[in-house]
Amino acid sequence: MLDMKILAIETSCDDTSVAVIEDGYKVLSSIVSSQVDVHSEYGGVVPEIAARTHIKNMIPVLDNALNKAKVKVEDIDIVATTQGPGLIGSLIVGVNTAKTLAYLYDKPLVALQHIEGHIYANFLEKAVGEQPQFPLVCLTASGGHTNIIYMKSHLNYEVIGDTEDDAAGEAFDKVAKMLGLGYPGGPIISELAEKGDIMAFNFPLVDLTPKPKRNSEGFLETPEESLDFSFSGLKSAVLREVKVIERESKITDQQIWDICASFQETATEILARNLMRAVSKYNPKSILLSGGVASNKVLRTKVESKLKVFDRKVKLFFPKGEYCTDNAAMIGAVAYQYSIKNKFEDYKKLMPDPNLKLK
Ligand code: KG4
Ligand code: ZN
Repeated sequence: MLDMKILAIETSCDDTSVAVIEDGYKVLSSIVSSQVDVHSEYGGVVPEIAARTHIKNMIPVLDNALNKAKVKVEDIDIVATTQGPGLIGSLIVGVNTAKTLAYLYDKPLVALQHIEGHIYANFLEKAVGEQPQFPLVCLTASGGHTNIIYMKSHLNYEVIGDTEDDAAGEAFDKVAKMLGLGYPGGPIISELAEKGDIMAFNFPLVDLTPKPKRNSEGFLETPEESLDFSFSGLKSAVLREVKVIERESKITDQQIWDICASFQETATEILARNLMRAVSKYNPKSILLSGGVASNKVLRTKVESKLKVFDRKVKLFFPKGEYCTDNAAMIGAVAYQYSIKNKFEDYKKLMPDPNLKLK
């Protein structure tokens, strides 16, 4: 169907977002009402406050998205929403809004997983010939997730790398909190890092690759390099340094900038290293970066420069800044693929699922 319009809703965490997407990639409108100001005084998202703020914001954001796209709900072909994972109180608002619209206006309903959205942010504003090609490998690094995903075709996901503890964005947020820099940490740390020295601190480049083992005949065997992540050790190493400094005297601005630079260098090197391991192993046509951390410039530059010395034909994609962090446009891009495959939900049965896995 040409000119297919999808009304997409995303409320899994602290952003109330509604978008209207045409033909799976044209963004007619993408409205994101950020709650950062509401949560920043607490140093992180407060679930109860997030849910209440979504309720307050949803109708104005919905009206705004429809007005900006110059459409009425009647003109919409499909309603789509994030079903999970996320904060249950937040998800309930988006899912119930989508169910209500689907029921009242008799529209087909699509529900999908949040990480799918982050991956498909890379398909937005690109005509079909310019979109990422399969097979692809995608690094999704956000406040809630850090995954490497292999896709042979649309909606076909294989999680080949995962975090054992914190997500990458969470590590940025926690380090920022330790340094008293506010929330969310990623953008603040990357800004202050520009004034710091990446060599000032030697934080651990945590690698979950097992140690070499001997086989039954006693020969040493090199284990396969791990694609998984762990950020809690890195976070603790930063905390230790902060404590050592503060035992002597108050931490200086220059020391804060140096910690930001050294931490960012280490965290992004870990992400880029594992992504390149996945590229070597899976030989994709496209590499995608996605999620809030994908807007980090050092990460982008690292991946670009590692690819230059890599003798393979592979194209790198990353979303525009506004589509890296949570937004509903990316949900509309996935929903388009769901509609092609006729994967619709019954509005009477659909429930939010805070632990929904990528299938
Ligand atoms: O994708 P997102 O909006 O929300 C989740 O699904 O979690 O990602 C938000 C996360 C936050 O942890 C934030 O600190 C991080 O992305 N982030 C960054 C940058 N911009 C946002 N991390 C590192 N560098 C950045 N420039
Ligand atoms: Zn997200």
